[in-house]
Amino acid sequence: MHIHVLGSGAGGGFPQWNCNCENCKGVRAGTIKASTRTQSSIAVSADGINWILFNASPDIKKQLDDFPAFQPARLVRDTAISAIVITDAQIDHVTGLLTLREHNKPWEIYCTDAVKDDLTTGFPVFNILGYFRGINHHEIATDQSIFTIPTAAGIEFTAVPLLSNAPPYSPRRDKPLPGDNIGMHIKDTRTGKSLFYAPGLGVAEPHVLEYMRNADCILVDGTVWTDDEMSKEGISNKRASEMGHLDQSSDGGIMSILNAMEKPRKILIHINNTNPILNEDSSQRATLNKAGIEVAYDGMDIIL
Ligand code: MLT
Ligand code: MN
Ligand code: ZN
Repeated sequence: MHIHVLGSGAGGGFPQWNCNCENCKGVRAGTIKASTRTQSSIAVSADGINWILFNASPDIKKQLDDFPAFQPARLVRDTAISAIVITDAQIDHVTGLLTLREHNKPWEIYCTDAVKDDLTTGFPVFNILGYFRGINHHEIATDQSIFTIPTAAGIEFTAVPLLSNAPPYSPRRDKPLPGDNIGMHIKDTRTGKSLFYAPGLGVAEPHVLEYMRNADCILVDGTVWTDDEMSKEGISNKRASEMGHLDQSSDGGIMSILNAMEKPRKILIHINNTNPILNEDSSQRATLNKAGIEVAYDGMDIIL
């Protein structure tokens, strides 16, 4: 299967429009070695023709423009995106649905009932799409049962409920239920290879670690290097953990978790603009390089 990273940044992207942290200032001025990043999204394809979009970021227009495979031009109005999977109801993962409103038929959208609840109430994007061609909602169960998508023959999907956080407009903010956040185990039955994708991971529960350990490739939460990174910079009064993100550098952080795994190729995604690993000359990036942990970039292609 083909995996294309559309956006490797966290909410706000890199640089963030109003941010003057060292990274954002540096990438704008060209004084640090770093690439700009759009907000978190990937696409997966069994055949290189039909693509399943994972999350729809506010930057989707640029992401589509930058990836010609998404516009096969078979009809006067066309797209190669055949279905959309949503892993949570956060702004950086769903706002792009509004940009996709001109679709010529209802969108096939796969998400849990918890996510659907937020997207029909607190942030009613699904209701708004109802004024255009609407959506066909396919419920993703949270019991780790395998599901398939008709336009991705040969690929098996498993939603892995995990602990992160529900969005600020959710009644379940700070008390998320299974289904508010999922990781996705994506297996190509033809090659036997699998990807585990979790752009938000707050707690590494045993069942999540099991999926990670057995995957051929992991694309996992790379939001922050340290839990207090945003509060230290005076950017937010919240710690990353309160937002549902596990840091990379602490004991029990993402790096120590990944270091204990043998099999998978390890790649960080959903990188916040404050994270020092964005600077390719930083000591933190050197530490990752030494550990064999990669940092996803916009346009990255993975074949499994
Ligand atoms: C998150 O990942 O925690 C959210 O996307 C943060 C945000 O952009 O509001
Ligand atoms: Mn996010
Ligand atoms: Zn910044």
